Amino acid sequence: MRQPSPPLKRQYLLAVGVFALLLVASFALFADLLVDQFSRSYLEDVLLSGRAQAEELARQLGGNAPLYRVVETRKEALSRISATLARQDVIQTAQVFDERGRLVWSTTTRTEGLVGGFPDANAELVVGAPEGVVETGTTYEIRVPLQDVGTVVVAVSKAALAPRIALLRRRLLLHTAVAGGLALAVLAAAVAFIWHLVQRNAALEARKRMDEELAALGSLAANLAHEIRNPLNALSLNLELLEEELHEHRAEGGTVGLARREVGRLSRLVNDFLVYARPSPVHRERCEAFEVLREVAALLGPSCEKADVALTIDAQPVVLEADRGQIAQVLVNLALNALQAMEQSQARRLELRAYARGQRAVLEVVDSGPGIPSEQLGRVREAFFSLRKGGTGLGLAIADRIAQAHGGSLELENRPEGGLVARLVLPVATRSEAA
Ligand SMILES: Nc1ncnc2c1ncn2[C@@H]1O[C@H](COP(=O)(O)OP(=O)(O)OP(=O)(O)O)[C@@H](O)[C@H]1O
Ligand SMILES: [Mg+2]
Repeated sequence: MRQPSPPLKRQYLLAVGVFALLLVASFALFADLLVDQFSRSYLEDVLLSGRAQAEELARQLGGNAPLYRVVETRKEALSRISATLARQDVIQTAQVFDERGRLVWSTTTRTEGLVGGFPDANAELVVGAPEGVVETGTTYEIRVPLQDVGTVVVAVSKAALAPRIALLRRRLLLHTAVAGGLALAVLAAAVAFIWHLVQRNAALEARKRMDEELAALGSLAANLAHEIRNPLNALSLNLELLEEELHEHRAEGGTVGLARREVGRLSRLVNDFLVYARPSPVHRERCEAFEVLREVAALLGPSCEKADVALTIDAQPVVLEADRGQIAQVLVNLALNALQAMEQSQARRLELRAYARGQRAVLEVVDSGPGIPSEQLGRVREAFFSLRKGGTGLGLAIADRIAQAHGGSLELENRPEGGLVARLVLPVATRSEAA
């Protein structure tokens, strides 16, 4: 599997790095703006509420009566206002000044909060100071005029506001950091997924290229094999004739016979290769497994007899839907492998079996030979892989290809008691009526 090239990986990582950096920077900027905006609007809220308190105080003290008298008569209302102010611990004081700027009424901080009363101190207000909010060193003073008779001043403590704003700031920063972290996690997941897709795509492309190259090479080789086959056949025929002629003149034709056998082997190799490289189409038909096995046994009979192999058939009734010729060819190939493998064996038994396994028909060629070394089991069906002297290594490759073309598979399994089971698993016929 070809991996994406290193420059592509580097570019991809660079792009991801830049993107992550931009994301972090934009979150930091966003957090800064957000914190600033929220702190400002919190302060505005507090000041607005302070203004409302000051206006309420001014309303309570309104009228034409002298301010001292009013303060005296509205004591109760003023202490209610004091209590309300006491609950808002950001408000430091509320004060009432007369028209000459002398302090007439003021809340004072006690342990129980703010309480109102006549001040001892002679705090004075600069007459003519602007209305609205005035920022001093430790407070924001909200000034509301009291018609022409004085001014109400509510002071919001900066020191009390600071920890609240700091808390608000911390919370906002925490939330933004969590949102940023989540966004980064999503980005990381997306990046990993995209990288996976890129890799898969690269692997698929590499595979496609390799398939195309192999297909081109295969077709070239098949054409070559096809061209070789005819002269080989002619050569074989001529060698046969030459051998016969030599027999007439001399008693031996050894060298020619050897040449003819070698040409025959070459011819078989070319034919096998052509079967492998140019598989014929599958012509499916319904066939009884037993019939196929019987046909195979008939073909193998003479070879088995010659090799002193006991051949048996054990077939349960099962109907296949397969290319009968191709399946018989595969079984013969598997059986020939078995016969070749049993040449050195003491007991030589070959069994052809058939049975159903769910929706599959199973055809087995079981022998009593040495089996296949387990480390080679995974490789024996590769084309041109052979452990046999003179073997071309195409028998199992062709069998595997034909099984797959039928929508089935070829399984190879060593038996615990010795020998190999070559198992062809094929689809059963779906229609129930007889063929
Ligand atoms: N029944 C078996 N018992 C033991 N070894 C086997 C058996 N069948 C196959 N093998 C091993 O698997 C190898 C590959 O088999 P395959 O039929 O593909 O090629 P081959 O028999 O070597 O050559 P050919 O193309 O002539 O069939 C064989 O060389 C053999 O070593
Ligand atoms: Mg073989």
